[in-house]
Amino acid sequence: MIKKLSLNLAVTYAAIFFIAIATIDIILIISYKKNQLEKTEAFYTKVAEFLSSRIDMNIKVSNLIANPEGMEGRILYLDTEGRVLADSLLEFEGTIITNNEIRNALLSKTHSIGYYNLNERNMAMFACPVLSDNDVYGIILISAYIDEVYKEISSFNRNVILISAIVLIIVILFSILMGERIINPIKELNRASHEILKGNLNISLDIKRKDEIGMLAKTFRLMSEELNKIDKGRKRFVSDISHELKTPLASIKVLIESLIESHPDEKTTKEYLKDIDSEIDRMSSLVKSLLTAARLEEIKVSIKPVCISKEIENVIRIFSPMAHKKGIKLINDCNEDIYINLDKEMFKEVLINLIDNGIKYGKGKGFLRLKTKSFDGKVCLLIEDNGCGISDKDLPNIFDNFYRVDEARTRDKGGSGIGLFIVRRICELHGWSISVKSKLNTGSEFCIKFNN
Ligand SMILES: Nc1ncnc2c1ncn2[C@@H]1O[C@H](COP(=O)(O)OP(=O)(O)O)[C@@H](O)[C@H]1O
Ligand SMILES: [Mg+2]
Repeated sequence: MIKKLSLNLAVTYAAIFFIAIATIDIILIISYKKNQLEKTEAFYTKVAEFLSSRIDMNIKVSNLIANPEGMEGRILYLDTEGRVLADSLLEFEGTIITNNEIRNALLSKTHSIGYYNLNERNMAMFACPVLSDNDVYGIILISAYIDEVYKEISSFNRNVILISAIVLIIVILFSILMGERIINPIKELNRASHEILKGNLNISLDIKRKDEIGMLAKTFRLMSEELNKIDKGRKRFVSDISHELKTPLASIKVLIESLIESHPDEKTTKEYLKDIDSEIDRMSSLVKSLLTAARLEEIKVSIKPVCISKEIENVIRIFSPMAHKKGIKLINDCNEDIYINLDKEMFKEVLINLIDNGIKYGKGKGFLRLKTKSFDGKVCLLIEDNGCGISDKDLPNIFDNFYRVDEARTRDKGGSGIGLFIVRRICELHGWSISVKSKLNTGSEFCIKFNN
């Protein structure tokens, strides 16, 4: 198929060029022949006219009639009856000759020309009337072999055809090369597509063009990079989930085995069962987060204007007992008149995750403040705490899936590292941007910039 395409291109180029060059050749050949014959006609017409003007001056005709130098043929002087009065080759004197050119010249009183092929030789016949007071009283007839002229015409034709054929061959070769130049990157793209089809997403494309094919290759490269990223993310996600589930399952197994094998007293049994219960809680919270993350990719965002201060108040109410227990003050400093177009359920999920983090990673006697601010003509929601803060090293990663700053510590707090990933995804789905500023042991400030 690809081979055929390059051949098709070459054939098309060659056909177009052939038609163009053939047209030019025909025009050249016809006009060259016409031009050469006109030149010959002009020469012999001049000779005939010169002779007829001399005859008029009563010069002895036989002295006058002679072949010009280089001329192959004969010159005759005839009377109006066609009788030869003088012959440059002294052969036909006294005989009667008649032909089309003589008749035409007698009738039209102007010269007449005809071309003949005699014994495979080219001959031209020029008849020129000898006039006196507009009366014809004789005819100068020149019959000349013009093989040389025809030879020149054929040589010209041969050269034109030869040059055209050479140019046509060059064009065919060039169009094959051009075809290859167009086809090669397509072949390369095809090869890369097959690699992707085989599951190899780490492809390299050697196409450095700046035209539409180059653009296609660039898009293809970006697409495969994106596919590669998605594939890596998927693999990492599966291994992260397995790891996350494996840890609590392993501890549950150890606890149960201890219960079975060591017959502990009632107090220890209760402690073991409590540990099992908290591991199960952690697992179910992980599964819940995973389900929330998965649901985000399926449901459509249903946008309505919502008073964000009211929503924050509702979520704060849910977290009050937990905050109170940790000695953290939850403060809502949002402007009550601000309505934002958003999906209420998703926004609630964002607030739950950010407030939960603020409390979870907050210090005793601390605070968590939510406030609205106008920035660049857009409304921003700031969530500020004076908790443990995040180091500069961890800050760029906290929105990634399963990323926890301190594995052991956050695991203790029941964290799975999916919360901020869900928050970022919801912001993306709404077209908002989310950023964070934080200083270790001082506090953090999350900022959501709405787009209305
Ligand atoms: N307000 C905060 N203060 C300090 N660290 C935070 C805060 N919010 C998030 N983090 C850090 O970012 C990590 C990722 O947060 P998140 O995705 O919500 O996971 P999780 O809460 O399940 O641990 C957390 O493990 C924590 O270390
Ligand atoms: Mg969290």
